[in-house]
Amino acid sequence: MDKLLEVKNLKLYYHTSKGAVRALDDVSFDLYKGETLGLVGESGCGKTTTGVALLKMPSPPGRIEPGSQIILDGRDIMPLPEKEIRKNVRWEEVAMVFQGAMNCLTPVYTIGKQMLETLQEHRDMDKAQAEELIKEYLGLVGLPPEVMGRYPHELSGGMKQRIVIATALFLKPKLVILDEPTTALDVIVQAQIINLLKKLKKTFDLSFIFITHDLSLEAEVSDRICVMYAGKIAELGTNQQIYGEQGPMHPYTEKLLQATPLLHKKVDSLSYIPGTPPDLIDPPKGCRFHPRCHKAMDKCSQEEPPLLEVEPGHMVACWRCGK
Ligand SMILES: Nc1ncnc2c1ncn2[C@@H]1O[C@H](COP(=O)(O)OP(=O)(O)OP(=O)(O)O)[C@@H](O)[C@H]1O
Ligand code: SF4
Ligand SMILES: [Mg+2]
Repeated sequence: MDKLLEVKNLKLYYHTSKGAVRALDDVSFDLYKGETLGLVGESGCGKTTTGVALLKMPSPPGRIEPGSQIILDGRDIMPLPEKEIRKNVRWEEVAMVFQGAMNCLTPVYTIGKQMLETLQEHRDMDKAQAEELIKEYLGLVGLPPEVMGRYPHELSGGMKQRIVIATALFLKPKLVILDEPTTALDVIVQAQIINLLKKLKKTFDLSFIFITHDLSLEAEVSDRICVMYAGKIAELGTNQQIYGEQGPMHPYTEKLLQATPLLHKKVDSLSYIPGTPPDLIDPPKGCRFHPRCHKAMDKCSQEEPPLLEVEPGHMVACWRCGK
């Protein structure tokens, strides 16, 4: 399969008054054309930061550090000036449905006005042409044209999320980053949105990065899964390698899965991971997971485990998982 994206040694630090928060520290992964790659991990592990880094839009005081490479369709976008990114990359090639975006629609404007503004910012179109296109996209996400005249508070959560998705697709991007797109929705609406995303992916020939902390949902939607811990990749493998009979290899993924409720398995109590993720201004030396790891050994607190391919397509960063 062809690669759409190659991320190499990506570092994004938030330079706060207390020090640099190393939110992404040497993250490398590929995304293939037509693929859905899931990003999972506990709160604060760097999932959203990965998304905004790929848009080259870190929130202040974030900065992508030198040495990072983001190769999109064969071209490293890191050296490109902001003007070029705005004109040809951000939203045009890479779009993002932000975490909680459906709650950020401006309450005082109609949906039509908000969508029109977004479209006219990027495309030289008169109002009539733009409105036609908006109606077409509303149809694609299963909404009637009348929605244009409504205000956000007159719509359900599922309808608002459909609008946010339609807006992200306006400029026909190749890659869409979906950051927790169904978290605030009930299970029925969640299933509808997932089915819609699957349909749109086929229609527009898209690739997805699907961010969620819901591992059972990730198992349903993603071809490959990337597990992050404290700004680093702990494990990356196919759906089968992570969720299959053999189970994952990294102790962190193992624990995450044991903490995930599964409908068909009744257990007396769910497992949990003791402690909390570390402070990323001063993360633990060696393996960042060692203070919480049930399999830690002496070496783990001294040396950082590299991310190694332990079987074809299966990468793990753990001293216990060498070849
Ligand atoms: N603007 C910012 N300034 C300083 N630190 C930040 C900023 N944004 C994120 N961080 C820190 O960077 C780290 C990664 O945050 P990020 O939002 O990427 O996590 P996440 O995996 O998306 O978490 P969640 O599941 O809660 O959405 C966290 O330690 C967070 O506190
Ligand atoms: S390197 Fe050591 S501490 Fe880290 S996950 Fe592996 S066993 Fe646990
Ligand atoms: Mg997030």
